[in-house]
Amino acid sequence: MARTFNLKLKQMDIPLIQGGMGVGISLGNLAGAVMQEGGMGVISLAHPGYRDPDFMKDPFLANSKGLKEEVAKARNISQGKGILAVNAMCAINRYDEYVKAALDAGVDAIISGAGLPLSLPAITQGHDVLIAPIVSSAKAAQLLLKSWDRHYNCTADFIVIEGPDAGGHLGFKPEELLEHTAKSVLDILEETKPIIQEYEDKYDRIIPIYIAGGMNTKEKIQEAIHHGASGVQVATSFIPTIECDADIKFKEMFLNHNQKELTLIKSPVGYYGRAIANPLSKQLEQGRVAPTYCLNCIKPCDFKVTPFCITEALIQAAKGNTEKGLIFSGMTIPTQTKLRHVKEVIEDLVGEVK
Ligand SMILES: Cc1cc2nc3c(=O)[nH]c(=O)nc-3n(C[C@H](O)[C@H](O)[C@H](O)COP(=O)(O)O)c2cc1C
Repeated sequence: MARTFNLKLKQMDIPLIQGGMGVGISLGNLAGAVMQEGGMGVISLAHPGYRDPDFMKDPFLANSKGLKEEVAKARNISQGKGILAVNAMCAINRYDEYVKAALDAGVDAIISGAGLPLSLPAITQGHDVLIAPIVSSAKAAQLLLKSWDRHYNCTADFIVIEGPDAGGHLGFKPEELLEHTAKSVLDILEETKPIIQEYEDKYDRIIPIYIAGGMNTKEKIQEAIHHGASGVQVATSFIPTIECDADIKFKEMFLNHNQKELTLIKSPVGYYGRAIANPLSKQLEQGRVAPTYCLNCIKPCDFKVTPFCITEALIQAAKGNTEKGLIFSGMTIPTQTKLRHVKEVIEDLVGEVK
């Protein structure tokens, strides 16, 4: 752990961002544990208040309250170490207000994906906060950076490139994922570097790149850094940990990896997402699972026709209902048979990475 990474005045001791995992998988406990090791911990902004008794009545209020509590928890655990970010999906309704709630809660960084966060600089203007997009192609990076430059005269503080092996919503066509024809994350990195370079030159600063999707070994992380990444974003490896915020039954789905079958689900968010096959995914192959309620949370989702409610399915999963819940997962499920501490996972991943 020889290097420190300065992002403006905020500092990481290790080249690792813990990927945001909604709903309820990465909250203050997991984020705080990663920060304690000197990394960037990420709280998912997708319904952080889902356990609040008033959640169904006023989700925004419950989520704003929940977020504040999770931020306080992460700060308390990390005791001044690491960087605290939130992951905000562009596809959520009231995106601007949620980002503002995160600013009010005092996070250090906003990472935003599931669409291009074109308006993010307008929302965060005047705040001491790092902003970063998640992209899955050089083209998307180009479009976003050009737009921020043209409209707001600013650029990204860092950038996350998510490849086809990641979990959650994926920026690739299903055929590319099924036929393994999507570009690898390292290829996307190579294509994106000259674009980033252009904005590094223009703004006379470094824009660190973190690559995500299947970065589950020290060798792969070393290779990513060798190819010019500043580090990696890792999510699935942090699920079977003591500190992960999900129910134990959800975490146990990520043990004994060779027994798991992965599948792709078309999400109401508008993307395909990778998940562990279970009764819900099998039911969705047959047809619609009509929602039982609607919180009007996703911009492109229409309650009357949606194949299922993603919020309901993800909340069920976080609460440990592994039959009715949607179990998002990356391609590489850990091989371990017991839950571990975040510290051990991080030591395995970046312990000697220089
Ligand atoms: C259970 C789960 C939930 C996720 N939820 C989100 C999310 O809400 N927003 C997001 O941008 N990415 C989400 N992701 C993607 C991760 O943040 C991360 O970029 C990706 O999974 C990294 O690949 P890895 O899991 O192979 O390490 C999720 C991934 C998983 C496994």
